[in-house]
Amino acid sequence: MAEWTKSDWRDKPRIQMPDYTDPAALSTVEARLSQFPPLVFAGEARRLKAQLGAASRGDAFLLQGGDCAEAFEQFSADAIRDTFKVMLQMAMVLTFGAKVPVVKVGRMAGQFAKPRSAPTETVDGVELPSYRGDIINELPFSEAARIPDPAKMLQAYTQSAATLNLLRAFSKGGYADMNKVHSWTLSFTEGEKAARYREMAGRISDALDFMRAAGINDGSNEALQTVDFYTSHESLLLEYEEALTRLDSTSGNWLAGSGHMIWIGDRTRQPDGAHVNFASGVLNPIGLKCGPSMTEDDLKVLLAKLNPKNEAGRLTLIARFGAGKVQEHLTRLIRVVQAEGANVLWVCDPMHGNTIKSDSGYKTRPFDAVLREVREFFAVHKAEGTIPGGVHFEMTGQDVTECTGGVHAVTDENLSDRYHTACDPRLNASQSLELAFLVAEELSAFRQDLHAEAV
Ligand code: PEP
Ligand code: CO
Repeated sequence: MAEWTKSDWRDKPRIQMPDYTDPAALSTVEARLSQFPPLVFAGEARRLKAQLGAASRGDAFLLQGGDCAEAFEQFSADAIRDTFKVMLQMAMVLTFGAKVPVVKVGRMAGQFAKPRSAPTETVDGVELPSYRGDIINELPFSEAARIPDPAKMLQAYTQSAATLNLLRAFSKGGYADMNKVHSWTLSFTEGEKAARYREMAGRISDALDFMRAAGINDGSNEALQTVDFYTSHESLLLEYEEALTRLDSTSGNWLAGSGHMIWIGDRTRQPDGAHVNFASGVLNPIGLKCGPSMTEDDLKVLLAKLNPKNEAGRLTLIARFGAGKVQEHLTRLIRVVQAEGANVLWVCDPMHGNTIKSDSGYKTRPFDAVLREVREFFAVHKAEGTIPGGVHFEMTGQDVTECTGGVHAVTDENLSDRYHTACDPRLNASQSLELAFLVAEELSAFRQDLHAEAV
């Protein structure tokens, strides 16, 4: 078989990608992007792969979260900081609650291109191409806004580079220092979950004080002062992905330089399609969304294509079936994976199978359904004797009203108050934390059962 190249996807059936009308403009952009530095380094992608491998064995847990779609207009240091902070808080709840290291991966610094359920959108009898994310076209409903413009890839690259730069600064520059766990809570509003978080932060501080007094920790331990924080996005716009793909000189393998981890969406996972072809050839950890329509035969082929060497940490299966459907679909897919002896990391995305249109017309997700899907995910893994290795959320640090429910009970009528997403509804900071407590409980119970069986 001929060796994979980064442009092989061009000969494969492609869907969910724009038809650019000006090929010369597209080539110019691709040529420029090809000269830009990659955003991530191969050693980082390998390190993440090793950590995801640990998660697949139950020795770590993946927390992946961020915007459904990053947007040019919502780009700000505060928004990045707030999402980063909520992820740190969620990770702290999980680490403390379930006593397991948490691998933190943002849907950030590259999550711009969106698959859509229909190629066009009709409003008042006017039909226009659908919005496909800021890297492709624009959200306003006008003919000009919906024309795909390749120059937007350059702006997406710039925003990703700046976002990643700030994330790196926060991760290593002192902001994430566990000795300052209380300062992450400063902007927190009241509420039962905030109180529970503060109490936990107090217990962590006490433990650190004790370690300091006992001479175990003088406050300068790197594991306490910094975090590893990785980026990820759906690898959908393949012209952009190809242009940022680079040869890693140490291994001779290809790196998707656009982010640490990339994933294939539920709509573009055709085994012989362009997206699977592209992902199959890069060394990064790969995610694969699995919805109810994933067949056992397709999964078998995808396991072989995406992880031919059966490496731990290479392939993450992101289950997104919808509350009430997990038992049926997760069970049948887990059995395929087990029968193949495939190494995978199983992760639960309780967002994408639970999207509904509310009476007020907004796309929303009932928080109860999100919680239910998480519980079902853990229950099926327990029944099958496999490892629930992580969670994948659409969330933001902003106080939005996009998903209904939660302790502050966002209602259908509230949705219009602060509905800012450029695409799917996200959990707000308080809902995210509430979910983290639930996941920590499920995970902790799961691990105690495992331990009890082992002794
Ligand atoms: C997404 O993660 O935003 C998405 C579109 O997911 P899926 O491919 O699972 O529908
Ligand atoms: Co989404």
